[in-house]
Amino acid sequence: QEKIIIAIDGFSSTGKSTVAKQIAKHLGYIYIDSGAMYRAVTFFAMTQGFIDNEKFNIEGLISKLKSIDIGFKFNEDLGFAEVYLNGENIENQIRTLEVSNFVSIVSAIPELRQQLVLQQQKMGIKKGVVMDGRDIGTVVFPDAELKLFMTASADTRALRRFQELKSKGENVLYEDVLKNVQERDYLDSTRADSPLFKADDAIEIDNSNMSMEEQFETILKLVMAVL
Ligand code: C5P
Repeated sequence: QEKIIIAIDGFSSTGKSTVAKQIAKHLGYIYIDSGAMYRAVTFFAMTQGFIDNEKFNIEGLISKLKSIDIGFKFNEDLGFAEVYLNGENIENQIRTLEVSNFVSIVSAIPELRQQLVLQQQKMGIKKGVVMDGRDIGTVVFPDAELKLFMTASADTRALRRFQELKSKGENVLYEDVLKNVQERDYLDSTRADSPLFKADDAIEIDNSNMSMEEQFETILKLVMAVL
């Protein structure tokens, strides 16, 4: 059976990664979280002092881009690949609200997008990949065999993200999470380079009222129809 590329785009916290992991596991495909790559660079910018409260030294970060090596390594116990920055596992450090608050500013840098998109395209050369993000069906893999565009109400998404952060022990307020989700949606869909939008040939899925099982079954049917 020929392997395909499945591109999943959508707004923040729409459950893209959850279903992408399930589908990849079911098909024996590789799951790639492109957002983790932008988060890793944001984490780098924060720890190297390029982002300091309100000040963001964009030029400084751009000058260091070539020295940033982002990789993934499969973790057998977790069942998915964790993200590495210059050889260091930073999977747990990139999911904080602090990183989320800066990532959309960092991800708007064209020089950075160019570098990461190239790396993402290389990871998909042999197909058999499920990748989620904001520009996968539009820029990274415009010829993907299946493109999905996930949506859900901002409240639903903020509540999901809030519960996720809480369960990880982060002390956050629901209002702050909602604000972050809305701000990222706005920045991601209005930036000049590769803004988030639904590709013409993407199938839109609103999962506001879907259980995880329903979502998986719905998407699996779409996958089977193109395989
Ligand atoms: O998917 P996740 O919410 O972890 O992505 C974090 C951020 O990374 C997004 O809000 C967006 O700014 C950026 N991103 C992007 N392009 C992608 C994936 C993520 O610009 N393909």
